[in-house]
Amino acid sequence: MTDNQETPDAQDTTPSGRATLPLRPPCERLSCHKSNVCSRSYFVVVMVFFHVYIINVIALLFYVHYSSGQEHATQSRDAPSSNQRLESRRPPSKPVFLRDVSLSRVEGIRVGHVQSLSLVPGKVHEMRTLSLKPLLFEIPGFLSEDECRVVMQLAQLKGLMESQLMVQEDQEELARELNLSPEEIFNLLDNNQDGQLQIHEILTHSRVRDGIWLTPENLREIYAGLNVDKDGNGLLSLEEFRLLSNDAFQRFLLQRGVERSQLVRNSRHTWLYQGKGAHQVLQDIKARVTRLTRLPPTLVDLSEPLQVVCYQEGGHYHAHHDSGPVYPETACTHTRLAANTSTPFETSCRYITVLFYLNSVDGGGETAFPVADNRTYDEVSLIQNDVDLLDTRRNCDKSNLRVKPAKGTAVFWYNYLSDGKGWVGEQDEYALHGGCMVTRGTKWVANKWINIDPDYQRQAHYQQLVSQQPEDEDDGLTLSPDMQGTDIHQDL
Ligand code: OGA
Ligand code: CA
Ligand code: FE2
Repeated sequence: MTDNQETPDAQDTTPSGRATLPLRPPCERLSCHKSNVCSRSYFVVVMVFFHVYIINVIALLFYVHYSSGQEHATQSRDAPSSNQRLESRRPPSKPVFLRDVSLSRVEGIRVGHVQSLSLVPGKVHEMRTLSLKPLLFEIPGFLSEDECRVVMQLAQLKGLMESQLMVQEDQEELARELNLSPEEIFNLLDNNQDGQLQIHEILTHSRVRDGIWLTPENLREIYAGLNVDKDGNGLLSLEEFRLLSNDAFQRFLLQRGVERSQLVRNSRHTWLYQGKGAHQVLQDIKARVTRLTRLPPTLVDLSEPLQVVCYQEGGHYHAHHDSGPVYPETACTHTRLAANTSTPFETSCRYITVLFYLNSVDGGGETAFPVADNRTYDEVSLIQNDVDLLDTRRNCDKSNLRVKPAKGTAVFWYNYLSDGKGWVGEQDEYALHGGCMVTRGTKWVANKWINIDPDYQRQAHYQQLVSQQPEDEDDGLTLSPDMQGTDIHQDL
């Protein structure tokens, strides 16, 4: 086909003057159709088309009715469907689950709003909205004194282990895999594109090296130790940046030695199972969390065990997200096995965090939310003039919101937004939080995380697999912290 080709119709209408048929008035053209032969055959053709059309419409209605009937007959929440449209987008062997569950989210109304809850017979709890971004609540007296004591004792009986996150190893691996040149890394870091790297530009992207938290002073120390900042202006040009290879960085940190206070997290923790056979207090807490969050009990049952954390004096946990962003190629730890895929990214998919304070702390130890209810969120502006808002040893006082630990109080928040259709949506970047340094005494908390895969199909498939397991193996199927990476646990 060339651009010049014209349709037959164009012959009548072409403005080019190349028309071969002379234009006639419409009435003259119509006169032919007035002849008997013409109108009869015309009528027959029209009727044939009309009938074919009607038959097509009826057939289509039958088809729609028949196929949706079949769908209803075979689909249930946990059963594979025969939905043709959805299946055409997936490999035919994969079951497709009809989404008939809608996750309810507790409404915040406004900051300071108080709602009454009936979570335990004969007792009314009051729940206060602390922020809307993230959606965050506080419930005093959620646990009784006795319950707090039992949880701490069970944790001690089981034994606590050092909590240490080796965060950045993967990232370096990733950078190596991506095969980025120093120029490319430099450009990624150079946020304001002025051709120089300011200290905060480096820290924004690598606050943590091998689990070590870097401060602006540390970075200056490294510059001096490795003699990279040749002109001594505190900024790194591309040439200076080239001297700061990963190896040099590593060697420097090794030589210097590390103290516990320089880690991302300075605490000890353990895990307590809450399934059948667990201590009644642990089962009661799980049931109360289910009522509080208004989520289907299965989702709470299949979530991680209770994590009990103890901070000694000087302990802290720098600001972090309990669960990461979810991209199309991100797997959730808990559904990963069921999904049977290998993906480069993995996160714990903790939709909700319920944090319990098991004791009142003598000094410090607040839970800080540095950007709660900020008008905007900007990763880069978290470090300004050498003030790193994520640093909970130094800058908790500059956080937008701090919750003071009080024995028995629970706070809970959503780490993900809603997708607007009743399921888990994107990560809520405002859910950034950390544990401020304990300045006096010790601090005990417990975390109950509720794991939900933002991909409904993966979550449903996982639940189907788990529900097919024999009853008595049920507890073993609760998400094991071992699957989370570095954590080790023993069954109590
Ligand atoms: C955590 C956490 C906050 C605190 O354990 O993930 O954020 O106040 N803890 O201890
Ligand atoms: Ca710059
Ligand atoms: Fe946390």
